[in-house]
Amino acid sequence: MSLDSVNIPAHVAVIMDGNGRWARARGKQRHTGHRAGVKSVRMTVEAAAERGVSHLTLFAFSSENWRRPEEEVSSLMGLFVEALRREVGELHRNNVRLRFIGAREELSAGLVKKIGAAEAKTAGNTGLKLNVAIAYGGRWDLVNAAKALASNVKSGALAIQDIDAKALSAELQLADTPDPDLLIRTGGEQRISNFLLWDLAYAELWFTDVLWPEFDKQEFDKALAFFAAKQRRYGHTGEQVEAAEC
Ligand code: IPE
Ligand code: IPE
Ligand code: MG
Repeated sequence: MSLDSVNIPAHVAVIMDGNGRWARARGKQRHTGHRAGVKSVRMTVEAAAERGVSHLTLFAFSSENWRRPEEEVSSLMGLFVEALRREVGELHRNNVRLRFIGAREELSAGLVKKIGAAEAKTAGNTGLKLNVAIAYGGRWDLVNAAKALASNVKSGALAIQDIDAKALSAELQLADTPDPDLLIRTGGEQRISNFLLWDLAYAELWFTDVLWPEFDKQEFDKALAFFAAKQRRYGHTGEQVEAAEC
């Protein structure tokens, strides 16, 4: 099946897993795997833009990843700063709009500054919308949304009976972004690991054993082909969906 003629997901979310195992399998330290993963990020961003995906959301560091050894956490944080320094110019030239989601207050001042600068520089870009999740957790996101709704009720700006899925969605980190259509997870595990819990409600889930440093455009295309073959029913029957399509 040629990917030119098929249904391309508007929003792809990726759990970039398997860096540590990739490195260990080569007798190297885990951080070598994280560094090797940057190339896969670059290729995935390119592939998404080439294929006509509008939104790409990458899970780089979860709220639970703070539990890792301090040495690994600090090497990852250093890598984020370095990757921003190296990659933002090229992303900007390619018209990519960069945004970060997650608990920014938990990050170092230096990283927060780089994040803010990258967002400001690329804010007006009209190409691929690239979201990077750092210190992000789906439960954290939902708790924040609940707090925002409660505060709006308290101030009188919102009535309890007006709280619905749309009102809650509007308080989430990806409020102005369509829900992911396709979730890719590398590294062989078939779980969500507290990624976009609300937003992934109707995503198609694609898992591969390929470890993140070995993920490439060919693998991305496999995920797109998997997506293209899916009938999305959102609770309807298959017959209803077919009737609506023709
Ligand atoms: C994903 O790779 C990157 C982060 C979670 C930061 P891992 O570091 O989880 O690699 P594995 O799963 O241990 O191989
Ligand atoms: C998920 O990977 C988080 C990221 C890829 C950033 P983990 O390696 O942290 O997931 P678990 O702990 O195996 O579920
Ligand atoms: Mg992992």
